[in-house]
Amino acid sequence: MIKTVDKLTKAEAAKELERLAREIAEHDRRYHAEDAPAISDAAYDALKRRNDAIEARFADLVRPDSPSHRVGARPSEKFAKVVHARPMLSLDNAFSDEDVADFVARVRRFLGWKESDQLIFTAEPKIDGLSASLRYEKGVFVQGATRGDGSEGEDITANLRTIKDIPLRLQGEVPRVFEVRGEVYMTHKDFFALNARQEKEGKPLFVNPRNTAAGAVRQLDPAMTAARPLHFFAYAWGEASAMPADTQWDMLQTFKSWGFKVNPLIRRCESMDEILAFYRHTEQRRASLGYDIDGVVYKVDRLDLQERLGFVSRSPRWAIAHKFPAEQAETVLLDIDIQVGRTGKLAPVAKLKPVTVGGVVVQNATLHNEDEIARKDVRVGDTVVVQRAGDVIPQIVRVVLEKRPRGAKPYQFPYKCPACGSHAVRETDEKTGKEEVDRRCTGGLICPAQAVERLRHFVSRDAFDIEGFGGTYIETLFEKGLLKEPADIFRLAKKPEALDRALAERRAELSAERRAREGKDEVAKKSKKDDDSKLVENLLSAIEARRKIGMDRFINALGIRHVGETNARLIARHFPSIEAFVGAMESDDAAAQLNEIGGIGDVLAQAVKDFFDEPHNRKLVDHLLKEVEVVPLAAPKIKGSPVAGKTVVFTGTLEKMTRQEAKARAESLGAKVAGSVSKNTDLVVAGPGAGSKLADAQKHGVQVIDEGAWLKMIGG
Ligand code: IVH
Repeated sequence: MIKTVDKLTKAEAAKELERLAREIAEHDRRYHAEDAPAISDAAYDALKRRNDAIEARFADLVRPDSPSHRVGARPSEKFAKVVHARPMLSLDNAFSDEDVADFVARVRRFLGWKESDQLIFTAEPKIDGLSASLRYEKGVFVQGATRGDGSEGEDITANLRTIKDIPLRLQGEVPRVFEVRGEVYMTHKDFFALNARQEKEGKPLFVNPRNTAAGAVRQLDPAMTAARPLHFFAYAWGEASAMPADTQWDMLQTFKSWGFKVNPLIRRCESMDEILAFYRHTEQRRASLGYDIDGVVYKVDRLDLQERLGFVSRSPRWAIAHKFPAEQAETVLLDIDIQVGRTGKLAPVAKLKPVTVGGVVVQNATLHNEDEIARKDVRVGDTVVVQRAGDVIPQIVRVVLEKRPRGAKPYQFPYKCPACGSHAVRETDEKTGKEEVDRRCTGGLICPAQAVERLRHFVSRDAFDIEGFGGTYIETLFEKGLLKEPADIFRLAKKPEALDRALAERRAELSAERRAREGKDEVAKKSKKDDDSKLVENLLSAIEARRKIGMDRFINALGIRHVGETNARLIARHFPSIEAFVGAMESDDAAAQLNEIGGIGDVLAQAVKDFFDEPHNRKLVDHLLKEVEVVPLAAPKIKGSPVAGKTVVFTGTLEKMTRQEAKARAESLGAKVAGSVSKNTDLVVAGPGAGSKLADAQKHGVQVIDEGAWLKMIGG
């Protein structure tokens, strides 16, 4: 359950900022290093906006690794902006024949034309790619831009130059300034070839041709764009110093004569019947076109009429997009595969008998979660209706019950993680008391599916903070079998040669991949051998520097669900040593002991207990404890501190220091700082304006002192 920013407590905000920093860094890595974004730009922007909003509310929580310090993370920041001289508009949609008839009637009404006045439309396949505007000056391609928000796009000139369908110099008579607009797209054949290569190289697959094309034109390195075969159809224009024709049709013919590709299926229609016949014919051909289209666009042919009709908000009155219904097909569900995500989420994937849905072969579809499977009563062997709607992963719409084989059994969602055999559980939402929809593996670090991401977390800044050990190293060493569990990190020093070899091999793989991709021989470079051994040396010394670790970092590093930096600190403060903590977690009243800690609720206590209930997690902790020394944070260790072990509450205004500073100071002297007064409170420090807490102190007979007395007590 995501809370709105204004409802977050400070502790929640800190935890959320930690999560966002980690998540955004991961998306940046996927985007830049792997060129395989896991989320849309919009979802990514939403994460960044949430981060900024929380930081605006809690300025003192801004983290050193905050994503707000980083610029140039996403394309919106990496390309120069281009203000479109004429906005790039979108189209209104029609979903039925009636909608189209209404559109035609609206046009006639607006123009004051009768039924008998002949109105001609062009009918054009609606290409499912991304639109681009190409500016030509004296016939030379000078600038190319994405649509962006319609008013302002991104300058992707260098990348567009690599597309063969985009002429760098136009042929024949061309106005001094002319912007040609159209769609950049990728063919099915190229898309599948690209994915086959990705699969062979063990890389993540691209979702669909449109996203792949969009990703390709936003590559920082034009060579990367060139490596992804893209095409372009011209169908519109922007700024023009002169118009070469006076109908849409003739404009398209002119584009062709200049050297552009114009979709060969485009026709002129003189009646509603012709329009609808074109629509049906195009829909039939859709699967065999070899590229994605998602409808047909009708445009009033005469440009003077287009001019008269003008625009309503962001779309022209003279055009409409007649969308195709979502593509569906029937096929057989062969199996249900359970994939384990980074957080241990068990995601059911339908394995289908391959079927062509709108020109694309579909073999997998998402089944969302356990409840969804039960709701649709999807069973292995069933015939199902699969739908591919635009950019979404294919979905199972429904089961064709008449075709259910005899004896098909209701699907039993696994209670054990298929990757590691640990229990997979559904937690209960603390607020609503409802079960969460996702079942999660409790295996944590032992689960190979989760291991790499968890190892990354282990070395991250708020955990073991091992410098220079993030990113691809973890993955490489995991793949090469050198890292299986966190303790292995501290065993690497015993195998420097193996480490050296693994990193050298990885480097060789990377450059071979690069060569294959770019199709060139690598330029001879100075020997990398020296660099590798230096790297190994640095890595090993960064690891050694962390053999002694604070208990809070240690607990955070374990990657227990719901336990981030803040909760790890709360736990670490409560137990006098890591052994005491681990011992307590083995006892029957583990959850109760955790519950005693202020700020730790039932869900968190249960998550910690679940973690320690898994024997392999215990083993992992034991192994780790053999390698590192965990320094306790707990209170009564500070010699001579008069407040060690005491619970202190600050209230009212402090004059000599901020509340935050006072808290940090008290904690460093071994005190626990609480937010409210109870019978367990030892001392209340009250400044001017203290209110109900003062009354509470009196009620419980707790000692109250002022700031001056406090400072004297702790030694100024
Ligand atoms: S005309 C002012 N024609 O559809 C009208 N758009 O939903 C400009 N599209 O952003 C658009 N094929 O990316 C037009 N033959 C076609 C098209 C087409 C695909 C896309 C284009 C536009 C979107 C609008």
